[in-house]
Amino acid sequence: MTLDIKEISSQLEKLKQDFQDDISGNKGSNLAEKIRIKYLGRKGQLTSLFALLGKVPAADRPVLGKQLNVLKQLFQQEIDKLAELESEQPQCIDFFDRSLPGVTKETGTFHPLYQVLEEIKGIFVSLGFTIESGPELETDYYNFEALNIPKDHPSRDLQDTFYIDDDLVLRTHTSPVQIRTMEKLKPPIRMIAPGKCYRKDAIDATHFPLFHQVEGLCVDRGITFADLKGVVEAFAHRLFGKNIKIRFRPSFFPFTEPSAEYDFSCVKCAGKGCNICKGSGWLEISGAGMVDPAVFRYVNYDPEEFTGYAFGMGVERIAMLKYQVADIRDFYENDLRFLKQF
Ligand code: PHE
Repeated sequence: MTLDIKEISSQLEKLKQDFQDDISGNKGSNLAEKIRIKYLGRKGQLTSLFALLGKVPAADRPVLGKQLNVLKQLFQQEIDKLAELESEQPQCIDFFDRSLPGVTKETGTFHPLYQVLEEIKGIFVSLGFTIESGPELETDYYNFEALNIPKDHPSRDLQDTFYIDDDLVLRTHTSPVQIRTMEKLKPPIRMIAPGKCYRKDAIDATHFPLFHQVEGLCVDRGITFADLKGVVEAFAHRLFGKNIKIRFRPSFFPFTEPSAEYDFSCVKCAGKGCNICKGSGWLEISGAGMVDPAVFRYVNYDPEEFTGYAFGMGVERIAMLKYQVADIRDFYENDLRFLKQF
């Protein structure tokens, strides 16, 4: 059986058209290779038409042979062009632009207050203090009553205290942890209790309604005010170096007798007076004193047998001194420009 060359020619036309459609579709990766296999591969659509050469009349063979070869050449050229384009234009999938700037992964740091708190804790632990804690939501009894703060004491004033109800308050200081610890343990006690406190203070450069204190309590036989001074001095020297000066001023707290407040000399101006210490050369750090016998009676300690000292220092104050921060609000505004400095 022989085939009609005209029929084959129209088949070739159709193949050419298909090829043009395929090559200009230009979709997907590695298209040139796919098209080459489809048309010119061993079983490709054009390749297989070459087998027809043997089936047309001998006289038609050169004509068909020429047609086939022309088409083959055309396909090959088109495929080569496409392959070249593809090699110039990397596929999107694995395209990587080396000229783009890198994506920075920001590293976080610990908040300055947290850093100071950790340092304070470290110093006291090395001096033999344990770390205790208590709830921030306190009862009237622990926050006031057992600390010998009578009902009419000004620190109970609605102005200062966040009351949750008649009995619950946001603790106004860390001193309730003194009571909780003494209820739990027998002397000798040497502990610190760091934590958050709350007061309805008007916000300014040195006051914020949320702040941190580190409470300290030491109870044993024969503890004196000299022990308190020794520990405060050791602490100050460890935190700020030997040049720091300490001063105790007489004060009053219902739960200590005698009571004092102590200040550190300003680290920025060394006592000359600057914006940090508001010109005084000193920064108020802490209330302190000898535990009042009335407090011991609340926790069933015999005041004839035991004495003790206590202190409660402001962490923000210490951080302000240490990092020379003039405004307490900076610690709470989460401004990255501020926080990034630590
Ligand atoms: N609790 C006191 C305050 O918040 C500080 C203090 C603690 C004073 C311990 C004496 C002893 O001001």
